[in-house]
Amino acid sequence: MNPDKTQPSRMTVPAFRARKGRGEPLVVLTAYDAGGAMAAEEAGVDALLVGDSLGMVVLGYESTLRVTMDEMLHHARAVGRARRRALLIADMPWLSYHLGPADAVRNAARFVREAGADAVKIEGGAERIEVVRALLGAGIPVMGHLGLTPQSVLHFGGYRVQARDAAAAEALLEGAKALASAGVFSVVLEGVPSRVAAGVTREIPVPTIGIGAGRACDGQVLVAHDLLGALPGPVPKFVRRYADIHASQVEAIRRWASDVRDGSFPSDEESYE
Ligand code: KIV
Repeated sequence: MNPDKTQPSRMTVPAFRARKGRGEPLVVLTAYDAGGAMAAEEAGVDALLVGDSLGMVVLGYESTLRVTMDEMLHHARAVGRARRRALLIADMPWLSYHLGPADAVRNAARFVREAGADAVKIEGGAERIEVVRALLGAGIPVMGHLGLTPQSVLHFGGYRVQARDAAAAEALLEGAKALASAGVFSVVLEGVPSRVAAGVTREIPVPTIGIGAGRACDGQVLVAHDLLGALPGPVPKFVRRYADIHASQVEAIRRWASDVRDGSFPSDEESYE
């Protein structure tokens, strides 16, 4: 092997974990296809997350509960083909890790074997410790996910900020500690007050990655479609939109349709002999 020293080295789980407390925030972005992965790679993100948000931003479902293993794998494989340097994390969809540790390992292993994932993410705290241990026992690194965990939307009765009161904040902290003790390499904190995320970030030895959880986390993750403005309609309060891809797409398609209708597309140059 002759690794090209001019290329930045590939992010690994130990390297990601070692960024805890270094003051250099980790940058994680969702990706669902090869094009999205290429753009995120070129922009230099640290990790690509094939999130089950796939169901809502790509597949048109109302919640992530409808997303299947087959759908996740289809998209994770596409991202895996385009991934070069970033860590690749695959989100385990609802019911792919709830039916017991053996089932969870079988499903997680498909992301590693078929998509080249470096790690999987699962939602939940103390109730997931047995599954975390089984996955680690099979050599599969695990990222935790606490707070407004979308797979619990029916239980929460909607997408509401979690851990607002002292008891819930304490329970979240205990969950994060339990996950860290079990060996997760990082924990996503979603939809929790900044002060709660700051407390968890202080207390656990692995990086926290925030989404709608304020500035104190060790890193941030966003759904790519939100930051790119790839879909019409409002985005959550915590999102900063850096582009309006949807409006650009509509405008480009409108111009092309108009050119087709008035006969100016295709020109002779845009045709074969
Ligand atoms: O599915 C997803 O995109 C996620 C992130 C928002 C953390 O879980």
